[in-house]
Amino acid sequence: MRRRTYAQADSNRREFLEAAAAITALPVLGSRVHGVVRRRLAFADDPFSLGVTSGDPAPDGFVIQTRLAPRPTEGGGMPAGNVEVRYEIASDEAMKTVVKRGRAVATPQLGHSVHVEMHGLEPDRWYWYRFTAGDAQSRIGRVRTTPRNMSLSKELNFAFVSCQHYEYGLFTGFGHMARENLDLVVHLGDYIYEYAGIDGRVRKHVGPEITTLEHYRNRYGQYQSDPLLQAAHAHCPWLVTWDDHEFDNDYATFHSEQPGVKAVAFMKRRANAYQAYYEHMPLRRSSIPAGPFMQLYRRVRYGRLADFAILDTRQYRTPQANGNGLKPLVGEVLDPNATILGAKQEAWLRRKWLESKAEWNVMAQQVLMARVDRLPGPAEGFPMDKWAGYEVCRQRVMQSLADLKVPNPVVLTGDIHSNWVCDLPLDYKRPEKTVVGTEFVCTSISSGGNGTEKLEYTDGMIAENPWVKLHNAERGYVRCRVTPRQWTTDFQVVDDVLKPGGKLVTRHSYVVESGQAGAQEV
Ligand SMILES: [Fe+2]
Repeated sequence: MRRRTYAQADSNRREFLEAAAAITALPVLGSRVHGVVRRRLAFADDPFSLGVTSGDPAPDGFVIQTRLAPRPTEGGGMPAGNVEVRYEIASDEAMKTVVKRGRAVATPQLGHSVHVEMHGLEPDRWYWYRFTAGDAQSRIGRVRTTPRNMSLSKELNFAFVSCQHYEYGLFTGFGHMARENLDLVVHLGDYIYEYAGIDGRVRKHVGPEITTLEHYRNRYGQYQSDPLLQAAHAHCPWLVTWDDHEFDNDYATFHSEQPGVKAVAFMKRRANAYQAYYEHMPLRRSSIPAGPFMQLYRRVRYGRLADFAILDTRQYRTPQANGNGLKPLVGEVLDPNATILGAKQEAWLRRKWLESKAEWNVMAQQVLMARVDRLPGPAEGFPMDKWAGYEVCRQRVMQSLADLKVPNPVVLTGDIHSNWVCDLPLDYKRPEKTVVGTEFVCTSISSGGNGTEKLEYTDGMIAENPWVKLHNAERGYVRCRVTPRQWTTDFQVVDDVLKPGGKLVTRHSYVVESGQAGAQEV
């Protein structure tokens, strides 16, 4: 791992400004359509091979998305021009009572993806949707509007998930998820992995390590061809955010983990990665990328019950302190200018908390927020890629939670391919007395292959970091049931992801009582 200093970061910043100037010359993406739109098309292969998705629900609507790709791992396989896509929203499962219909245009510029933002619908109810293009029709997806902003519903059921390396395992967890009673799925990143295909694994990535727009599109094409992933998307709306692998492992803003990668080349690759992410996710127009920049952090409210801040801890962070890896809390870790959120996002988060009237204030984000020493014994090693490596920023966020008396903060985390429950203390010298929030970390769907319930170092780590309540390294996802008085988290574990038919069990359950930060096992 290359050691990066702030002096290097400064010279990189100059290079970055040059890169940014070069990149403004890239064509601006938008929803405007130029040229002829084809309506009559006969498809030899199903153009809806990637299924349908919905997301970012509001009281009056949501976004629905699909991408036409008859040959999803070979550049999509669409004809060169614009293609009309019709959509229908119905109030019943059989699509008998259509309440909205309309037309969108799939352009080659956006990989023949369409994103339709619906408005004018009823709050807090299910709808069904489908798309038609030429002689082809998509499957039907199910989507739900949120309650009105000021109404307090009795419950919210959702799952959160991350890390679905295609080669290491099957997406069995998504198949189980699609049979759960869920209003929402929250995806915390590593939706794809960027690496080249490697033989001898459960499945194999198509192509080399992805760098071009076509590479990234083909990789999403391969992942979204999975029927279990498609079933989970069709089941309910998703709130998505990315981590590093949607672009490149452990990147920070415009810094590659590999030495010698120039900012201009890296930012061009980032533009490809961000565009392909937008094309395949149920995101609103506000997230259309401008070159290598994309607005992803946002707020989604579930009435007064839960207020989700969906964060982006990759795009704006300063380089990992002390050369990344496991390091003690010294040197660059304590740099007051180091940030994992960027100043603008941090200020936005604080403003959101000031306004929030919600019972539960959720941060849906990528990397471990609790400070955890991962080295047994007197040696200290904190992961520099996580919040622990950005100590001043982390402490400021914890202090804001305390100062603003944010009701019931709950942090949802992905990234580390293991299940965790952590109390979040304001002061790690007095951890029991200063808990301000609760963190739940979901394991991976498939990354790492089959895991184990307990690792050799688990007991020692928990003894040294008593705010850690659970560590488990099996595969699966996490299910949450939220009511005004109580939050229940179930760790849903799949016993085998190497062959079809893996069974689901609830391995652990924890509750947080409203007004009482910290989790208790039940
Ligand atoms: Fe991952």
